[in-house]
Amino acid sequence: MRRTIRNLIYLSIGITVAFELLQAFIFTKSAHGQPAQTPQIALPAPHTDSTFSLEKALATRRSKRQWKPVPLTLAQLGQLCWAAQGITDPASGKRTCPSPMGVYALELYALNADGVFHYLPKEHALERLATEDRRVALGDACRGQQQVKTCATAFVITADMPKAEEKLGMANKQMLCLESGHCAQNILLQAVALGLGAVPIGAGRDAEIREVLQLPDRLTALYVVATGNPQ
Ligand SMILES: Cc1cc2nc3c(=O)[nH]c(=O)nc-3n(C[C@H](O)[C@H](O)[C@H](O)COP(=O)(O)O)c2cc1C
Repeated sequence: MRRTIRNLIYLSIGITVAFELLQAFIFTKSAHGQPAQTPQIALPAPHTDSTFSLEKALATRRSKRQWKPVPLTLAQLGQLCWAAQGITDPASGKRTCPSPMGVYALELYALNADGVFHYLPKEHALERLATEDRRVALGDACRGQQQVKTCATAFVITADMPKAEEKLGMANKQMLCLESGHCAQNILLQAVALGLGAVPIGAGRDAEIREVLQLPDRLTALYVVATGNPQ
């Protein structure tokens, strides 16, 4: 009898531990504040050099709106995330993109056929927040723009207003809009250097984009950049 009880206790402890491990593995609590759908996806280490000059990227950049039906590779996706918000000085946490008083209140999302992803600069990784394709819904939130619906990956640049307010001492949306412009330009130029195309989309409606991405209240959607293999 005693042995049976002891075995039952061991069994229940075993089940509890296994369940916790499974939960930690499958539903990792995300930095975004929602349960992530999968463990973090490590991105390939970004290139910090290339034979494609900055001048050539500036001279040849053009907004692209027609796409081949080809997804971005993980390396391309990772490189674009890094260009947008990658950490370039791990000691200080400073990034590719300048930021007012180093507040770093921007958060980057990527939407593609595989779902919705949130970029984690420190880890240079993605957390997957949804498994369904929400590009059409995002396009609808951008006044129905087809180039968003059909692109390979749409980036959404969002800002954590309360975080910025705490550090800057004021709710300064203009500062964060300026920062998001830097971030978007980094994506645009990096896309050119990778042989990809991109177009900035300023026509997105914050409330609708927030709904599509299920953003937490602290985040405001500022800017969208559609990317892909141009036709
Ligand atoms: C703030 C901003 C918002 C924009 N919004 C859109 C947009 O909603 N849809 C779009 O197709 N292009 C958009 N564009 C791209 C412009 O139409 C494009 O940059 C302009 O026509 C110049 O062409 P180029 O980018 O090829 O040099 C936007 C550009 C900026 C700077």
